[in-house]
Amino acid sequence: MNESELRRLLADLSLEEKIGQMIQLPGYFQNAGNITGPANDMGFTQDDLRFAGSYLSIIGAEKLRQMQTEFMAQHPHHIPLLFMADIINGYRTVFPIPLAQACTFDPDLIEKSAVVAAREAAVSGLHVTFSPMADLVRDARWGRVMESAGEDPFLNGQVAAAMVRGYQGHDLREPGKIAACLKHFAGYGAPDGGRDYNTVELSERTLREDYLPAYQAAVRAGCELVMTSFNTLNRIPSAANEWLLREVLRREMGFEGMVISDWNALQELLAHGIAENPSEAAFVALRAGVDMDMVSPIYAKNLKELAEKGRIPMAWIDESVWHILRLKNRLGLFEHTFKDADEAAEKTVHLSEAHRRMARTCAEQSFVLLRNDEQLLPIRGDDSVFIGPYAESPLLNGAWSIFADDQDTVSLKAALRSRPKTHEVPVVPGCAMADPEHPVIGFQHPLPPEELDTEAALEEAVRLAKQAEKVILCLGEHRECSGEAASRGDLSLPRCQLRLLDTVAAVNPNIIVVLFTGRPLDIRPVSEKAKAILLCWLPGTEGGEAVLRTLLGENNPGGKLSMSFPYCTGQVPVYYNHLNTGRPWNAGILDGRFGSKYQDIPNEPLYPFGYGLSYTTFACSPVTLSGKRMTRSTSISATVSVTNTGSRTGTQTVQLYIRDLSGSVARPVRELKGFRRVTLEPGQCTPVTFTITEEMLRFVGLSMDTASECGDFDVFIGFDSRTDNRARFTLTE
Ligand code: GLC
Repeated sequence: MNESELRRLLADLSLEEKIGQMIQLPGYFQNAGNITGPANDMGFTQDDLRFAGSYLSIIGAEKLRQMQTEFMAQHPHHIPLLFMADIINGYRTVFPIPLAQACTFDPDLIEKSAVVAAREAAVSGLHVTFSPMADLVRDARWGRVMESAGEDPFLNGQVAAAMVRGYQGHDLREPGKIAACLKHFAGYGAPDGGRDYNTVELSERTLREDYLPAYQAAVRAGCELVMTSFNTLNRIPSAANEWLLREVLRREMGFEGMVISDWNALQELLAHGIAENPSEAAFVALRAGVDMDMVSPIYAKNLKELAEKGRIPMAWIDESVWHILRLKNRLGLFEHTFKDADEAAEKTVHLSEAHRRMARTCAEQSFVLLRNDEQLLPIRGDDSVFIGPYAESPLLNGAWSIFADDQDTVSLKAALRSRPKTHEVPVVPGCAMADPEHPVIGFQHPLPPEELDTEAALEEAVRLAKQAEKVILCLGEHRECSGEAASRGDLSLPRCQLRLLDTVAAVNPNIIVVLFTGRPLDIRPVSEKAKAILLCWLPGTEGGEAVLRTLLGENNPGGKLSMSFPYCTGQVPVYYNHLNTGRPWNAGILDGRFGSKYQDIPNEPLYPFGYGLSYTTFACSPVTLSGKRMTRSTSISATVSVTNTGSRTGTQTVQLYIRDLSGSVARPVRELKGFRRVTLEPGQCTPVTFTITEEMLRFVGLSMDTASECGDFDVFIGFDSRTDNRARFTLTE
């Protein structure tokens, strides 16, 4: 439909039909013809269902084609439904969690993963994914850190933009393309205490400097939707935050698409205490610019009366409905109502060998080798025993993998059994996944209790460990312990797993820990007892195969931490791009007592942002600059030579950090401004050059404008955020 036809359609709609477009209902309200219990409980009526604009979390080509057919037949203007769902890290073929994908430092690979996710979702009839999640996160207590790209604004932006490109391509009408919904706008990843849905207190400068850049990158990449976050900013919930949505998002960032609330967020404006009644909630949300109300009755039950009484201008409603109709039109739904929904294609596209291969590659590149003393890794396979709850668990998908089937996942045990060389190696649980006093709370439903004779399991583990050359200890946090509403006050591993570690390490010093988790954890005990640590996050459908290929050396791990691993929970939030303070602890007075430090723990995390080892080794030459001075109209090249000094091919991620030594406001001790992945043969050496531009030096200054300021800068180039390989230059007028 062309724009004038679409404008005419908008003009022809009744008020009920317009308001209907602004309502999104959950899948369990399905069957437009039949009101269901929950719908009634929420006050929805038959008409609300008749005119609804969208459903979420309902999937399947056959189901959605039937639903679309029934719905459009009864709709007065036959406007198609939008079908949306959370495809956070894959649909049926599950990829590593986004926090792990970010460790690849490979935007092209992340884009390809999103292409696969979109292709699989599209054939099942979906039009929109609630992804990318671009919330910056510095607090691992917050369970949704697993959905994020971690603690760095630049890396976050690269990941978010790559996902948007992968999902949307160049034209949403193309087969296999779906619209991307950026979330959660804004600042959701910074709740007080790391507690989900809690208050967010950010200065405007910190919001703009650290939290907005990733959202801006996704908007620049063309994301079609933005989802408001549950939290308050400046004590105003995002869904009612006119400054945030109309000034910052639309006017400043140039977003022209559709704004959807998060689940029931409009109803929650009452709990926030910024609306006295549902009618006022509808008013403040529409005034702020929320186009579609996700699963709350606020718009459905109140907009009509507000409009008829003239309390809201029809222009507000028309503007929202226009955003919604335009998205449907961009997806080509008026011409191709079912878009890509195709039952036959579901059978061939889902979990295809090519998709599995892509998921395995992404998993392998996301692994971070944290330690490898005595080159204990790689193993032969028949020299080891595999112990731990994750040695055989198929639960390797992240908590949001809600449309996948764990039966499709390759566990580590399954991978071992699929190879002649490791077909017989012992694989035993050794302990339960979780402590009985802290049972895992399911993401969507309660989990069955773990049936295990823990004493017998431990004895069996010790017996096997005594006989083996090496022990592969597969530990970690249950996947349901991260994700939404999964904040934790203690980042330690379960006590049962720590007991297993201690007991096995007492009989065999050659401990290799393979760590599965949705968040950074306090892994001091692991660091003390294990000679090698391979961080595998939640690696997805092909996780077991990817882990085994890495343990055997068929894959050489090269991932880099997208988020710091804290020394302990008490150190959180901990992140590399912090301010220096007036008393950086190493420059304190009276022996450092009065420096910015703790009395009982170090300031440094256990493992820093950007860190990761390889089965080979690399060297980096000192930084050379093409000049010592630059102006706003020139640039400087910063070069190092990187050499593979080891005995096998490996990939290194060379990282560029810049420090602004002085500004009109305090500046971080360093900020990531670029990275380059290089794969080198043994002995091979290659130059890596970064161009430093004036744009890289800009920040939110005293006047709240974003600009560079003249002065001295340090350039750091190395293999993680602690590199001291530096050179200095000056920006002059
Ligand atoms: C949830 C989440 C959001 C998700 C939405 C739809 O509450 O906050 O990320 O996309 O509801 O499932």
